[in-house]
Amino acid sequence: MAKRFHYAWSTLGKKIVMGLTGLGLTGFVTGHLAGNLLLFLPKEGYYTGAFHNPVIYNQYSHHLTSLGPLLWAIEIGLLAIFFAHLLTGAVVALANNAARARGYEVDGNADYTSKKTFSSKTMIWTGIIVAIFIVIHLLNFKYGVEYKTALPGLAEPQRDFYRLVTEFFSKPLNMGFYMLFMLWLAFHVRHGFWSAFQSLGLNSLRYSKALYILALLIAFFLGIGYLGIPVYIFIGKLFGFPWIA
Ligand code: HEM
Repeated sequence: MAKRFHYAWSTLGKKIVMGLTGLGLTGFVTGHLAGNLLLFLPKEGYYTGAFHNPVIYNQYSHHLTSLGPLLWAIEIGLLAIFFAHLLTGAVVALANNAARARGYEVDGNADYTSKKTFSSKTMIWTGIIVAIFIVIHLLNFKYGVEYKTALPGLAEPQRDFYRLVTEFFSKPLNMGFYMLFMLWLAFHVRHGFWSAFQSLGLNSLRYSKALYILALLIAFFLGIGYLGIPVYIFIGKLFGFPWIA
């Protein structure tokens, strides 16, 4: 009995860690997208507002990088959350597979809060794809070419992330590669966000439908936003949109 309780607790514990870290990571990708939507701002002279590129996007990146030790703390926290999510996700997925192999799991929907869809069945794979993407992404941008540019009010030249990102997405292979990864991210978040509430025991009959719709909306926002950026830049550069800096 004590053994069973211990097993149940540790399985539950892992699911809770997976759910909480998953929600944290969803918060990060949503915030990161919000910042990157600044790429859609046109260059000076194309509308009456004071915010224009490449200044705004580079100022935004500069504000982040100038957080100094706080940024280090955030990055270490993010890394810890990421690894905790990866580890618990892999262990839970392997345990589920083993249970399925022993015939303990049914293939249909288990109850009213369980929905087996393409996203739910491929979580481990979409998760691995997203993890590989992040490593490539950091090499492309964070540790990519260090273009420099002047920014208003700053004596020292700062990193020109706007130039890096727009040059990067002007190449069709880069655009296609990122689009593919963004699609997997949207699938992963669609199921992950919804099932996190189930793992945390917060997904009752009353809220199940609302959470399912909210997960769809978040995945849709992430999918459209993250897919939209490479496509917008690629087409803009190809046809020479004059409002892209
Ligand atoms: C079109 C899509 C994207 C663009 C244009 C973009 C752009 C950037 C840029 C310019 C940086 C380096 C500057 C900085 O550290 O702020 C960066 C960092 C980063 N990006 Fe992205 N990103 C995109 C999508 C994603 C996605 C989908 C994820 C996660 C699944 C992601 C995760 C990260 C992480 C973890 C960092 C490092 C943050 C840090 O160390 O402070 N990015 N991104």
